[in-house]
Amino acid sequence: MQGTDRSRRAGAMIVRRLAITILVDNRADLPGFGREHGFSLWIEADDRKILFDTGQSDLLLHNAELLGIDPGSADALVLSHGHYDHTGGLCEVLGAGAGAPVYCHPRIFAARFSRQPDGTMKSIGIADEPAKTLRRHIDAVRWVTEPVRISPSIGITGPIPRVNGFEDTGGAFFLDPEGRRPDPVEDDLALWFTTPAGTIVVTGCCHSGIINTIACVTRQTGNPAVYAIIGGLHLLHASPDRLARSCRALEAAGVTGIVSCHCTGESATDYLRAHCPCETIAGAAGLRIAFPAQPFA
Ligand SMILES: [Fe+2]
Ligand SMILES: [Fe+2]
Repeated sequence: MQGTDRSRRAGAMIVRRLAITILVDNRADLPGFGREHGFSLWIEADDRKILFDTGQSDLLLHNAELLGIDPGSADALVLSHGHYDHTGGLCEVLGAGAGAPVYCHPRIFAARFSRQPDGTMKSIGIADEPAKTLRRHIDAVRWVTEPVRISPSIGITGPIPRVNGFEDTGGAFFLDPEGRRPDPVEDDLALWFTTPAGTIVVTGCCHSGIINTIACVTRQTGNPAVYAIIGGLHLLHASPDRLARSCRALEAAGVTGIVSCHCTGESATDYLRAHCPCETIAGAAGLRIAFPAQPFA
């Protein structure tokens, strides 16, 4: 009996079965699936179902239906940060009356803007209707201002310290429409899972930088290695120096596989594929990866 209790406790320390399905992404290769500039994942971790981000629109419902997934049945909703392309489907998900906890940082509601290539400013914060819906469900919100454990083997980083000198985590993001106050996107957070294969890291836009994110996750897990990464890596405008140093840091962390999604950028994905010793796959809506993933083994 004692042995059974011990093995049950040990089981709780690790996610035995992890499957991650891309509901919304900038790419969609499979017939019938829609794509948009946005990101959403459906995560099955043993008997727990987690919705990570909600895309830009109600597209996640269309794609989820094709996959036979009901986003309203999630046990938890995690919002990586307050950009419109990660929070746009909130009305559809929360409107269904789901009482699941919603994990996010208090800056989720911040007004935010980005400077476009032509110099104009675009509002990119959470849209009005999703914000109203989230406020209506405020009792379900669990503010993530520091590391949070959903379970002993599933963690949310909370704000990610920007500790290395080579990841430029700035960009054309501002807190005011005049573009005077830079937005550090301090609400950016990542999700991690401890699995038999190792640590799996899930990112939204990764505004904190993937190497800073890995440093943050490995501190929290106590395991210096990361097995795989899935999510947006925000490397669209990364310098050659940043890409090269990121590759070296990914190798040092023992990363075996990357599913590069959303805002990573095609050229950065190609660079990772060519220069990182790990396997790099381009994500797309409808792709389901069961860990340990075959290409990463
Ligand atoms: Fe994004
Ligand atoms: Fe973003």
